[in-house]
Amino acid sequence: MAQHPNSLLDEIFDTALSGPRIFTQKSVLFHDYVPSRLLFREDQTRSLAYLFSPLLRGERSSNVFIYGKPGTGKTVVTKLVISKLQQRADRAGAPVSVCYVNCRVEGSEYRVAASLARTLGQDIPFTGLSVKEVFNRFTTALFSAGVTLLVVLDEIDCLVSRYGDDLLYMLTRLNKPEAASSIVIVGISNDVRFKEYLEPRVLSTLSEEEVVFTPYNSIELEAILSARVSHAFQEGVVAPEAVQLCASISGSQHGDARRALDLLRVAGELVERSGGPVVTVQHIHLAEQTMEKDRVTEVVHSLPLHSKLVLAAVLNCLEETKARVRSSVIYGRYVSLSRDLGTRALSSRRVLGLLRELSLLGLVDKRIENYGRRGGRVTMVELDAPLGLVRRALSDDALVAELFS
Ligand SMILES: Nc1ncnc2c1ncn2[C@@H]1O[C@H](COP(=O)(O)OP(=O)(O)OP(=O)(O)O)[C@@H](O)[C@H]1O
Ligand SMILES: [Mg+2]
Repeated sequence: MAQHPNSLLDEIFDTALSGPRIFTQKSVLFHDYVPSRLLFREDQTRSLAYLFSPLLRGERSSNVFIYGKPGTGKTVVTKLVISKLQQRADRAGAPVSVCYVNCRVEGSEYRVAASLARTLGQDIPFTGLSVKEVFNRFTTALFSAGVTLLVVLDEIDCLVSRYGDDLLYMLTRLNKPEAASSIVIVGISNDVRFKEYLEPRVLSTLSEEEVVFTPYNSIELEAILSARVSHAFQEGVVAPEAVQLCASISGSQHGDARRALDLLRVAGELVERSGGPVVTVQHIHLAEQTMEKDRVTEVVHSLPLHSKLVLAAVLNCLEETKARVRSSVIYGRYVSLSRDLGTRALSSRRVLGLLRELSLLGLVDKRIENYGRRGGRVTMVELDAPLGLVRRALSDDALVAELFS
């Protein structure tokens, strides 16, 4: 029988009040927290600081393209360097302004351009102007300000993949030798293929200099985590083996410090909820499962219908064969599922594109295999997430659920 809501709530709140305290300062584990010490990033910090140093002397510096896998410290290192740069520039009376924009968070060309213009004191409405008009107001303000503006475009791939590189092109063409103001662009991306989206003329200007952030190994992750644990958790609450496990899980995947920190936080929350005293290895395993479930569910829910159909086709084929499946077989199944739903199927080329997106989202694994000297090349696909989770998440869509029933 279901528990009475009152007693259920009492139980939860009692645990919160009387259970042992797990965290001292949980915010230290959140994504926007900027730690005062960044381990293993001295080379990158130094490179960026050297590259920006001329600005303090009133000289222009090169544009920089920063890249590396997710969670390798690109954002946090860049933010630290530019905030120190701004402080030192202010103190030295150097005419430098910095503007940090996260292109994924802003979400559109308009909002990115508005953000740049606002840094220079322009009052830009939330909607109503054309991007061109916002950009014009920005350039007018820039050239009358007599400053060097350092623009950081973080997660720049999100802007370019959706809107193309027009805005970037306009930004890279702003500098004029005789002008009193100038602009330095710092682009940050974790998408290795980002450069392919750029026209050569934009690419060559953006990546005058490049700084690479390599993935952390397990030993480095353990040190990063240990430093954070002492700020975030009560003393002795996290077992050292639990920290090691977080580090080795993330180290063996993509060397992602964010994911390692998330694992620790989620494990801490699980312990807090259960009223237990210590974060153990088991809690880390549990946290990993919880996070995988949330990730898969969220990503699948956000897919457009035809991507869901392609994924359903992958699932369908795999449930039958239990092995990798050729993309042509998946396409055949996708066409038949589309027919069942009465929707027009996309071309096989489009479906290959959707498969590529699904693989970027970590839902499927797609690789090209060669068949002998004359056999040609075929794309083979398998699932990159637990089948049951994907199936459940797909079934949350009433239309797709019809196909499974
Ligand atoms: N060297 C480090 N020392 C301490 N904490 C770090 C270090 N590197 C990364 N972190 C932490 O890991 C998390 C991820 O770092 P960050 O946001 O800078 O990654 P990123 O490279 O920008 O990733 P993405 O490409 O996904 O944007 C942050 O919470 C950050 O504080
Ligand atoms: Mg980042």
